[in-house]
Order: sequence, then structure tokens, then C-alpha cells
Amino acid sequence: MRVLYVSTELHPALKTGGLADVNAGLPPALRAQGADVRLLLPAFPALRAAAQAPRRRIALGAMLGCPDVGLLPCRLGAVPTWLIDAPAYYDRPGNPYLDASGADWPDNALRFALLGAVAARFADGGIGRWRPHVVHGHDWHAGLAPAYLAARGGARPASVFTVHNLSYQGHFAAESFDDLGLPAHFFAIDGVEYHGGVNFMKAGLHFADRITTVSPTYAAEIQTADYGCGMEGVLHARAGALLGILNGIDTRVWDPAQDPALAAPFTRAAPAGKRACRAALLAAAGLAGDAAGPVLGVVSRLTAQKGLDLLRAAVAPLLAADGRVVLLGSGDAGEEAAWQALARAHPGTVAVRVGYDETYAHRIFAGADAVAVPSRFEPCGLTQMYAMLYGALPLVRRTGGLADTVSDGPDGTGFVFDAAELPALQAALARLLQSWAEPARWQAMQARAMGADFGWARAARRYLALYRELRPQADPPPTPA
Ligand code: ADP
Ligand code: GLC
Repeated sequence: MRVLYVSTELHPALKTGGLADVNAGLPPALRAQGADVRLLLPAFPALRAAAQAPRRRIALGAMLGCPDVGLLPCRLGAVPTWLIDAPAYYDRPGNPYLDASGADWPDNALRFALLGAVAARFADGGIGRWRPHVVHGHDWHAGLAPAYLAARGGARPASVFTVHNLSYQGHFAAESFDDLGLPAHFFAIDGVEYHGGVNFMKAGLHFADRITTVSPTYAAEIQTADYGCGMEGVLHARAGALLGILNGIDTRVWDPAQDPALAAPFTRAAPAGKRACRAALLAAAGLAGDAAGPVLGVVSRLTAQKGLDLLRAAVAPLLAADGRVVLLGSGDAGEEAAWQALARAHPGTVAVRVGYDETYAHRIFAGADAVAVPSRFEPCGLTQMYAMLYGALPLVRRTGGLADTVSDGPDGTGFVFDAAELPALQAALARLLQSWAEPARWQAMQARAMGADFGWARAARRYLALYRELRPQADPPPTPA
């Protein structure tokens, strides 16, 4: 089974969110189960710098307004990879989607159309004599890959399109369609058109042979107006082709027994090291060390999605119980400033670090007693799984992958609330404090959380089964003479 895995980010070289973690974890898990999965990524400077064993450039010529496009075969994280060498589009430092001022690059339509168009070039088998059975694209950046494949007609690889976050869609003005090189009739409701513009997410949802998203609950949610971000109609119409497959996490990167970032190792069977991690975290965060209450950690992008404005308004009872809050995050300037103000108002008990810091993130999961993910929506969410593995009990909203990974109640692994409203979060936090007051109960929950199996093998089996269903289409029977 040959699979071309098409995306934009890859942990640890280039990461803006959980997509990078998924791209680093899933392909090796699929390869371990026998699939010949190879990556196709833009040659952003950080990815190019991380490329191992580079081989000779394959010239593709001019494409989509870029004069000299090529492919750089290499390995990234032990997975065979082609980086798309298109300096005019990709040789830009920093965030792959935004310029230094935080605005979308004005030529993003062409930059990411090129990703889809190059993916479709693999269909004829001319690249390294390797023809994929399946082209598997991720999020809007790869949304045009299924469209370019469909435009070829005839025998072609099957396409799978995975939605990691429906709220980022790649929506562009109608005029950009003229530059994409797609058949004119694709600019239609039954195509890439959406509210008069070109929408890459819609293209993926419409043209892919199968759509997946990163949790079963999110797969159901996005067919409703509350969560569909305007795509609920398309998704509902394609419900028969839509499947939710829960993400895994990379237990090579996330393992408290051998995590170099931690003050002390620990395991479910020997959890004592977590005490040292907790003390080290409070010290590193500049907080008073003798906390009798729970240490609540947050590692997150600070956007409306994550619901951290609700948490800000709910922490008083935690602090009154001699708890601590340690937050690491970046994003909306207003949310950053509000958290910083909260820390100033509570010196010694609330610590806020604005920025991105992978090592500190590991230390928070290891040192925290609980981790909050009160998201308004959450396609999957990885941090609640990292938290559980590191013995920090998750406090989450019942939505998307949070609903599919955290259980509440007598045999629970965390604290789950329903409404995205302050009273619901306050009630869950009150239950957390009650459980904290009963150490035996807390430790039993901790042991259950740490015992969960979130490795990638299960998800890889599901994706592989999906690819196998599609394979007959990718391998058409020979036409009779
Ligand atoms: P999303 O992709 O929506 O941001 P996920 O939970 O899927 O949410 O993934 C977030 C990833 O980014 C996790 O690996 C998390 O640890 C990491 N992360 C988020 N914010 C920060 C930060 N400020 N510093 C370090 N890592 C962060
Ligand atoms: C997106 C989602 C997040 C998910 C991640 C990886 O960034 O916001 O919930 O875990 O993709 O699939």
C-alpha cells in the first residue's frame, strides 16, 4: 500500500499546533504496519534544515506561477520525504502561513494550491517511479489535492482528506480561481466555490473519496450548524464518506519514564518522581512551593477556541484552596494580556508565561496535578492525552476529542463539563477540588489516567483499513484488449 501523505508542518522542525505532532506520529505508525507512507511537504526553511540524507533534486518545471519547482528527496524523522522546492513561495522564515506581522501571506492561494498540484503530479508515476494508491491530504492547505486529482479524470490514486480544524478554511477571492489551473466548471457549488469565493477546505470536502476527522465526536458535531463553520451542509451530504478516527500521541516523545526535560522520571507503577517534578515546576514558575491545593496547568494556543477566558473567570476557588495555576500559551494579544494581569494580581499563586516553549510544556504536564482544556470546540486535542500520561487529571469540556478521551464519574479519568459557560466550568472545578480532598480517590483516578493507551497503533490500523477499502479504485482492473 503506497500512500502519499501531504501536509505542511512536522514536529520538531516546524510546528504551529497539534497537526505537527500528528504528522510526526502517524506516518511512522503506518509504516510500522507495513504501509509505504511517504511525506510531501513544502520546503519551508525549517524543514529543509532538518532534512536528512538529501538526494538529487527532481525538476518539475514551472507550476502555478512559480518559475522553477522541484522536489528534494530526503528523510525526515526516518520517513522518506519529498520537500517541494519552490523558493519564490516557500523560502520564507517563521510561521508557514503568516508573515512577520501576523497577516496571511497575500499569495497563500497559490502557495498552497502548489502543494495540491504537486501531490497530483504523483498520479502518473513519473516521480521516482513511485505511484501512490492513496493521496492523503491534511487540512485546508492540502484541500486542492483531491480537486487536482479529480481534474485528471480516469484512473487515479484515491484521495483521503483529513480535517484537523474546520475553523481554518483557506477562503480566497473568486479571482484567485483563474490562477489555479482547474477546469472552469469546478468553480461551482458542486466544486471549490463557496459564497462566491474559492474555498480550499470545501474543495477537499467535496472532491475527496473519503473524509476523515480526528475524533468520532467531532465527526458528528461538524454536521451541525453549531460546529460546522458553514460546511455542515457539505458534510451532511457526504456523511457516508465521513469517518472520525481518534488521534494518538507519540509515546516516543511523551513518556514520563524517560523524558529528558523532567526533574525526575516516574511511571504509573512508581509515581514518586512526580513529586519532584511538581516542586521543580513551582520553582521554575516562581510560585510558592508549599501548595496544599492542586497545581492546575495549561499549555495552549490562546484563541477563542480554547475557552481559557472562562477559566480565567473561574480560578478563585482553586486559589482559595491554596492551589496554583501555571499557564504557558500564546495567541490573541487580548487574552495574553488578561492572563498576565491575572498573574500580577495573584503573585505567588498564578504564573503565566507568554510564548512557545516545548521543554516547559513537558515540565508543566509532569508537574501539574491537573490540566485544563475548557475548549468551546476541540477536533481532537492532544494536551489532555499528554496530561493523562503524565499523571495530571484533565478538566475538559465535553466536545470533540475531549469527549472521546476523558471520562468522568466513579471510574473516571478526569472532570468533564457540558455547557461552554462559566457555571458549568465552576461546577467541574468544584468537583475537582472535592476529589483532591480525598487522596485515595485522586490517586485511583491518576492511575487510571496513566494507564490509558493512546499510542498511534490503533489509529494507524483504522487508516490502513480505510486505505484498503479504497485500493480497488486506485488499482483499476486492466481494460480488456
Ligand atoms: P491545537 O492543535 O488546536 O493547538 P492540540 O492539543 O492538538 O491543539 O495540540 C497543541 C500542541 O501544541 C501540543 O503539542 C501542545 O503541547 C503544544 N503547545 C501549544 N501551545 C504551546 C506553547 N505555548 N508552548 C509549547 N507547546 C505548546
Ligand atoms: C487541530 C485541532 C486539534 C487537533 C489537532 C491535531 O489543531 O485544533 O484539536 O488535536 O489539529 O489533529
